[in-house]
Amino acid sequence: MDALRIHGQKTLRGTLQVSGSKNASLPIMAAALLAEGQSTLRRIPGLADVKTLSKVLAHLGVRVEAQGAELTLDATELTTHEAPYELVRTMRASILVLGPLLARHGKARVSLPGGCAIGARPIDQHLKGLRKLGAKIEISHGYVEAHVDGRLQGATVIFDMPTVGGTENLLLAASLAEGTTILENAAREPEVVDLCHTLQKMGAKIQGIGTATLTVEGVETLQPFTHDVVADRIEFGTFLVAGAMLGEELLIQGGVAEHQTFLIDKLRTMGARIEEHPEGIKVWRAQQLHATDVETQPYPGFPTDMQAQLMAAASIADGSSTFSETVFENRFMHVAELGRMGANIRVDGGRAIVRGTPELSGATVMATDLRASACLVLAALAAEGESVIRRIYHLDRGYEAIEAKLSSVGADVVRFREDS
Ligand code: UD1
Repeated sequence: MDALRIHGQKTLRGTLQVSGSKNASLPIMAAALLAEGQSTLRRIPGLADVKTLSKVLAHLGVRVEAQGAELTLDATELTTHEAPYELVRTMRASILVLGPLLARHGKARVSLPGGCAIGARPIDQHLKGLRKLGAKIEISHGYVEAHVDGRLQGATVIFDMPTVGGTENLLLAASLAEGTTILENAAREPEVVDLCHTLQKMGAKIQGIGTATLTVEGVETLQPFTHDVVADRIEFGTFLVAGAMLGEELLIQGGVAEHQTFLIDKLRTMGARIEEHPEGIKVWRAQQLHATDVETQPYPGFPTDMQAQLMAAASIADGSSTFSETVFENRFMHVAELGRMGANIRVDGGRAIVRGTPELSGATVMATDLRASACLVLAALAAEGESVIRRIYHLDRGYEAIEAKLSSVGADVVRFREDS
């Protein structure tokens, strides 16, 4: 198993490039299932999750070709409507093939993704929405078994909460449904917007893009597409936090500042200097970071996917910060590991109180989920001495070439195989 060895407290200077978004790539890959012919996706990050979904699509009969950051998907002939457990279990987003399979083939059998370290993460909203569109769905032997007689029918779906995956699955299905679908309390994340733009290129008729009410007028067929995936706002945000902790005119290129307005504002309040330039965003560390309070919210609120990383910064701030996690119930697993590096954090239900300490000290820690891993990398970059971060396969699901990128701006990060 791979691990990272980091010697901390190196100044970060130079240029970092933000990759294409993982969370936008996955639904857009699923969108290719909706059309016959070859779709081309550009700026696809080289990540484990992309490979997993590629395997699921290939299993369904899609011809998949990857070359660098370009992926071509030809879904002309689908050979099965079943996504088996062995492929789905490692990645919850595989459930995104459910809507497209139902819409194009009238049936789908997709393994339930199961639990996940950061919470129960049910898919009831996906199923409720698809049932509203006329699908008959049963859960049997760990699989979602769905079929529809004829085409899916447009309907009004009101989500109980603005679910990103649920909104995406329904957008994918509704685009090929008969009649008009209205999605209320829909997610507004930039990744949902990027999917909408892709579907529009395919010939879908969608209104209200970027708002909580999406109206989809279904069409009979969709065309293949070419699309450049939006920048990964979470990788961008992680680099911004790294800059706020250790940057000296660190230039971050390719990120979209409007997608991280909340975080940029927070980091400035905490004392970092952040400037927008035509060539990208420049970040300088704070002499001393100040404490802050955050509450995670669906977009455009503070992203749950940035909570762990900002906590690494708060752990060396002056004063007490409060982190309230409202999106996922079990997303403080990084706290115990940060404690091993000297952070002073107390968790009370969905809240973490972080009492800043002047310095973290390097330690051997274990990555527990994707964003928790990024938090530990940031903490290790700032810590005195050597840290080893184990189980970084979580990190590889969401950060492309992380050690190469960080090393290029002065960090001392080395990947090694633990069993060697
Ligand atoms: C996506 C992102 C993930 C991010 C999350 C919230 C991808 C691949 N992943 O995950 O990185 O942390 O959005 O921004 O894009 N819920 C239900 N029932 C459902 C669906 C969701 O109760 O049917 C709940 C979840 O348990 C969670 C909340 O709704 O508490 C938000 O989840 P959701 O937005 O669906 O997250 P994902 O799409 O899984």
